[in-house]
Amino acid sequence: MYKYTDEQLVSMKKVEESRKERLDNLFPRMTAEEKDKVLAENHPDYIESAYENLKVGANKGDKVLHELADLLQGKSRISDLKIDLEHPDYDVDVLVIGGGGAGSSAAITAHANGANVMMVTKLRIGDANTMMAEGGIQAADKENDSPAIHYLDAFGGGHFAAKHELLYKLVNEAPDAIKWLSDLGVMFDKDENGNMITTHGGGTSRKRMHACKDYSGAEIMRTLRDEVLNRQIPVVDFTAAIEIIKDENGNAAGAVLMNMETKEILVAKAKTVVIATGGAGRLHYQGFPTSNHYGATADGLVLAYRAGAKLLYADTLQYHPTGAAEPTQIFGALVTEKVRSLGAQLVNKEGKSFVYSLETRDVTASAIIRECKKRNNGIKTTDGEGVWLDTPMIEMIGGEGTIEKRIPAMMRMFGKYGIDIRKEPILVYPTLHYQNGGIDINDDGETTLVKNLFVAGEAVGGIHGRNRLMGNSLLDIIVFGRNAGKYASEKVKGGINVGKLTLSHVDSFNKELKEAGLEPTVLSPKLLPDYTKRKDN
Ligand code: FUM
Repeated sequence: MYKYTDEQLVSMKKVEESRKERLDNLFPRMTAEEKDKVLAENHPDYIESAYENLKVGANKGDKVLHELADLLQGKSRISDLKIDLEHPDYDVDVLVIGGGGAGSSAAITAHANGANVMMVTKLRIGDANTMMAEGGIQAADKENDSPAIHYLDAFGGGHFAAKHELLYKLVNEAPDAIKWLSDLGVMFDKDENGNMITTHGGGTSRKRMHACKDYSGAEIMRTLRDEVLNRQIPVVDFTAAIEIIKDENGNAAGAVLMNMETKEILVAKAKTVVIATGGAGRLHYQGFPTSNHYGATADGLVLAYRAGAKLLYADTLQYHPTGAAEPTQIFGALVTEKVRSLGAQLVNKEGKSFVYSLETRDVTASAIIRECKKRNNGIKTTDGEGVWLDTPMIEMIGGEGTIEKRIPAMMRMFGKYGIDIRKEPILVYPTLHYQNGGIDINDDGETTLVKNLFVAGEAVGGIHGRNRLMGNSLLDIIVFGRNAGKYASEKVKGGINVGKLTLSHVDSFNKELKEAGLEPTVLSPKLLPDYTKRKDN
């Protein structure tokens, strides 16, 4: 059971005392100038010392975080191995790398299009950030809304940097993505008349967040996994892709696989390859805790980069404003934005509001960091500091029972430690949540520099620009998962002659590293975080 410190208890009292007053007087939204200032002075993306410039590859000269640079310029796991490319263990039309929502959507769509598909995943199907997603999925399917308004919200929220054709696709195909999921069996929250219940997220001008309580990702993943299994799409689990294979024409043509337990090396030949390996939270950029699943180690970026693909906005990460700051057992776990959508406010040590609760994520996170680091208004916690998220306000606004009905996962997560979020506020601090950048693709989902290599989900860069709005990630895994599955299988139908398989690009990359004076020892892709440093590792 969690035991509050005396300082926390004194501060909590102030939060209770100011509740009514804060409810009647919402903190004003920031002006554009105020947003720019709070970001520049507080957002982790602006800390120059955390970055370095890449010395090799398609993004040579571009800055990325040190942790990512180490992997992009790391030592290939096949460096000391002899790989038999002449006798592939698998030969398929479409090879999907990754077992989350994007990979599953791609596999289902390619399979429905008649392709011979195989999924490979280093953990199990469903061990993915999709499963961890809570708050919901955006789609403009109400009368007062439209894809154009959705576009404007997301484009502004992403600092006008999104690739137009990708964002256009995202918002226009959103209503159909919801229908597709519903038809597959996702049980979205509905009112007594059967209409979808929708809420706001940070930076949305319309209520378009569809949800399954605060288990949205788990419910979507459950449904997609069932569909993959029902279709009997082969899933090779506990097997990681450790290098993309190309053919003599320079096109993607499969992957070198490694069994995670036995370390056995396998070769998968394919006409097209879809990278859907997800995000990078487990790299713990800049020492941040993370809301991500155990396998989120940027593998797809490494695979694609070594194969010659280009990255877009790899320097921009999302720090979700509300990771759990206490108790320490759940440090960094996601406290869904939906908590704020339902009315909970962010409050400092003195019981005062300091930011409008539904600013975009980067702005809100920056305001929390400023409140703690610059204004000394944070509350000390076991692992650092945090601010209050005043959850009891939710039932003052929505009535008794709202928390249990709309955010039961949050109630349970804190309830395990004796914290009743209906009665007590909770302590939060930003947590590493999402990789805004990733691999550069065209609107068919194919990488801009390597043919027959497709990408979907969090491994893609450019859909959201430099900051993503809540609920646009569950959406992009569906829209761009289906998109990659469709075009990867269409290309197969169009006829692809795979030439002689080769890994010569890995040799060339190693040569480039050497010429740049780099002699990497860090193995990449990373595959799993190294929390335990055992001697025999
Ligand atoms: O806050 C959340 O529920 C997270 C949603 C998202 O990242 O889209």
